[in-house]
Amino acid sequence: MATPSPLLRLPVLQADLARVEEELVASVRSEDPFLTEVASHLIRAGGKRVRPAFTVTAAGIRGTQLEPAAPEVILGAVSVELVHLGSLYHDDVMDDATTRRTVESVNARWGNLKAILAGDYLLAKASEIAASLGTEVAGLLASTIGRLCEGQVLELQHTFDAARTESAYLASIEGKTASLLATACRVGGLVAGLPRDDVEHLTSFGRDFGMAFQIVDDVLDVVATDEELGKPAGHDLLEGVYTLPVIRTLAEGGGAARRLGQLLGQPLSESDLATARELVRSNGAVDGALGTARRYVESALGALEPFGASESAEALGAAARHLLDSVAAIAS
Ligand code: IPE
Ligand code: IPE
Ligand code: MG
Ligand code: MG
Repeated sequence: MATPSPLLRLPVLQADLARVEEELVASVRSEDPFLTEVASHLIRAGGKRVRPAFTVTAAGIRGTQLEPAAPEVILGAVSVELVHLGSLYHDDVMDDATTRRTVESVNARWGNLKAILAGDYLLAKASEIAASLGTEVAGLLASTIGRLCEGQVLELQHTFDAARTESAYLASIEGKTASLLATACRVGGLVAGLPRDDVEHLTSFGRDFGMAFQIVDDVLDVVATDEELGKPAGHDLLEGVYTLPVIRTLAEGGGAARRLGQLLGQPLSESDLATARELVRSNGAVDGALGTARRYVESALGALEPFGASESAEALGAAARHLLDSVAAIAS
């Protein structure tokens, strides 16, 4: 798995994330012990908690040093992570994934029907908590869940489509990933009562970071091993999800593009999958995709400029730079 983000080195944030953890476990407790078990499966499995870390850090962006978060900020962070969790339960059904957060996925362990229901339950719990934080936060969370669905539908509409364009790809990841990272930061700003300009800058940071985050995830699917990922590598190609490095390889033309084009558009055997990953790694497509991720990171860093050198702004900036460093170590 990737090395932890520098954000998590802040002791105050670590303490706040421990509070998030307690509330997360409490929030999914149902009268039905089975539902409690299924809904808490991926909470127990871990995960990086990037989104709640962003909510808490964004809320503290105007302090010179990060102070312990107010209880409403912790609840905002919990509701954002619950949306993420619910979307992972549903995403793993869609992608037929067997592993998540290094453990058996919910669909692999209990089947698709229970994974869908438990995912719905997590989204419901997120909405319940968001409602306690006011109408703006509740409306924001609801519209973000809508954006996640739009992004996932856009992806589905182009599965096994070797003609998928870069703009169709970018529109999909904006919905399925960047929108929730934007919301994670926005919720922090809103709940902390920050001025509107600050809230907008934080939202831009989260959105640009989210674009880079998904591009990096997609590059890792091509360049990393199962062990490095904590989930099977090459799964996107197998599922017919052609991501930025694949789209760039096809667009470059030449021998690699031609051979890759012949393999895509249909399910791949194990050996064809290995060949396809090799072809995508063989030219400048990985570097090109990482260049696009770098531009999003630069834009994200630009959105932090108004906050000066506060501890939170420094930490968010370090997390964005770390994203590129961690993938560079694997891709090179
Ligand atoms: C996985 O998100 C889904 C993507 C948007 C790529 P994370 O990489 O944040 O997953 P966890 O929360 O650490 O498991
Ligand atoms: C991100 O897409 C999924 C969501 C935003 C729910 P992926 O399908 O690439 O995520 P992984 O690779 O399964 O974590
Ligand atoms: Mg997936
Ligand atoms: Mg992926």
